[in-house]
This record gives sequence, C-alpha cells and structure tokens, in this order.
Amino acid sequence: MSTHVEIKKVTTHTLQEMKRRGEKISMLTAYDFSMAKILDDAGIDVILVGDSASNVMAGHETTLPITLDQMIYHASSVVRAVKRALVVVDLPFGSYQGNSKEALNSAIRIMKESGAHAVKMEGGREVCDSVSRILSAGVPVMGHLGLTPQSIYKFGTYVVRAKEEAEAHRLLEDAKMLEEAGCFSIVLEKIPAVLATQVAATIKIPMIGIGAGNGVDGQVLVLHDMLGINKEFNPRFLRRYADLYETIRLATINYITDVKSTDFPNEKEQY
Ligand code: KIV
Repeated sequence: MSTHVEIKKVTTHTLQEMKRRGEKISMLTAYDFSMAKILDDAGIDVILVGDSASNVMAGHETTLPITLDQMIYHASSVVRAVKRALVVVDLPFGSYQGNSKEALNSAIRIMKESGAHAVKMEGGREVCDSVSRILSAGVPVMGHLGLTPQSIYKFGTYVVRAKEEAEAHRLLEDAKMLEEAGCFSIVLEKIPAVLATQVAATIKIPMIGIGAGNGVDGQVLVLHDMLGINKEFNPRFLRRYADLYETIRLATINYITDVKSTDFPNEKEQY
C-alpha cells in the first residue's frame, strides 16, 4: 500500500476560488529556506518573497536598494522549501519601471532562476502595459496599490493613503485597470478599511490587505514584524503573534553563560 499523500498545491486559480467561496486567504513574507519551510508546513496559502527583505534581512531603511539578483537569491531559497504554498516574488525597484520589455525580462529572470510561481509589482495604471506583457509570457502578476514603499521619496511619508475622495476614486479605478490588464490578485496597503471593503466588493480578483481592515479577501504581514523579531516597527495594523526577539536574546544569553561556565558541552554532548 502506498503511503504517498499528494499535496494539493495552491495556484492563482485556488485563490480566485477562495474568494468566490468567501474563504479568507493567508499570506506572509519569507526570504529564506528555514522560515519558508515552517510557514508551508503550517499551511500558509501564499508566501511573498517581498522586497521588504531589503529592510528586515539587509537592514536598509527603504526597499529601494535590493537588487534583482538578491531577490532571486531569496526567492530560490524559499522555493526549495515549499511544497504547497503559492510563491510570489516582488519585482524590485529599478527592475520594471523603465518599460514593459524591462519588466518582462525581470519577471522571466525571476521565474527561470528561482522557480517561483508569480511576480508582484507596485503601481496602478502606469504598470498596466507591463502587467499585460508579463502575462503574455505566461507569468501571473499580483498588483500592489495604496502605500507603495518603492515610491516613498515621492510621497515622503508612510501615512495612510487614499483618505481623500479623489485619491480613493483613483485607487478604485487603478484596481479595475489592473484587473482588466490581467492581475490575478492585488495587495492593498494601508488604506481606509471602508475603501478596501468597497474595492474588494467591486473587483472580482482577490484583494489581500495589509493595514486595510477586515473587509478584504485575505491578509498579509511581514514575517519579522508578526513574529516580534523586529521591535522597532509598531503600526496600528500589526498584530504580534510571538516575541521572538526576546526568545532569541534569552537563548543567546543562556548559551553565552553555559559556554563561559564550561557547563556546555557536558559529557553527553561530546564524543
Ligand atoms: O515587500 C513586502 O513585504 C510587501 C508586503 C508589505 C505586502 O510588499
């Protein structure tokens, strides 16, 4: 008798079915093999290899410095760990804004060199050509509206976006355009919950929120924030599910103490 259990992989189609059924989509970021393995084992639907790696992995202040090669390195580590989740990879700043051919080339490099399942890019109407072109090569694209951290120097602040009516109207129009261009889903970051709910009700593809309230089709958080590894970032929308900073700090203190006192290694821990 075979004990082989086939794992049903999450696809872009699965996410659209989940929206249709009203089942919420869970998404977290990951950037390395070990963490991605734990998230996949726990049953996460989508793993985003976010350009937030620039902040939480490399210590940069913004997401701008991370390169396409670095994103591919993180993505390939994640892909090697994942059996079930859909793996989506951010196109980093400077790898797609030039024109749709540049966007296509970057998307193809990510898919070919990392084995990921889809790409994500920030922006609305201005990236629709690129979305269509990438899609025409068979690569699924996730959009990203609201607070778009790659444009931080244009806006100058990380405050809530689309609070004014004109900006809210523009965001809804952008979401429609991204859907028409062929995006399979859109991240809505840091916008009023009422607006996010309206967008999710109007647009057929799944809306994944971060700081966008509970009326959307799924939620995403940055892993290091929700695990409490990163203590400095405390926005209202963040729920911490662990205090790993303290857990790791205390484990390190205990290790140092045991090494200095020669308690570690003991007789059973040696050959
Ligand atoms: O890079 C990232 O982690 C993201 C999420 C905040 C959605 O884009």
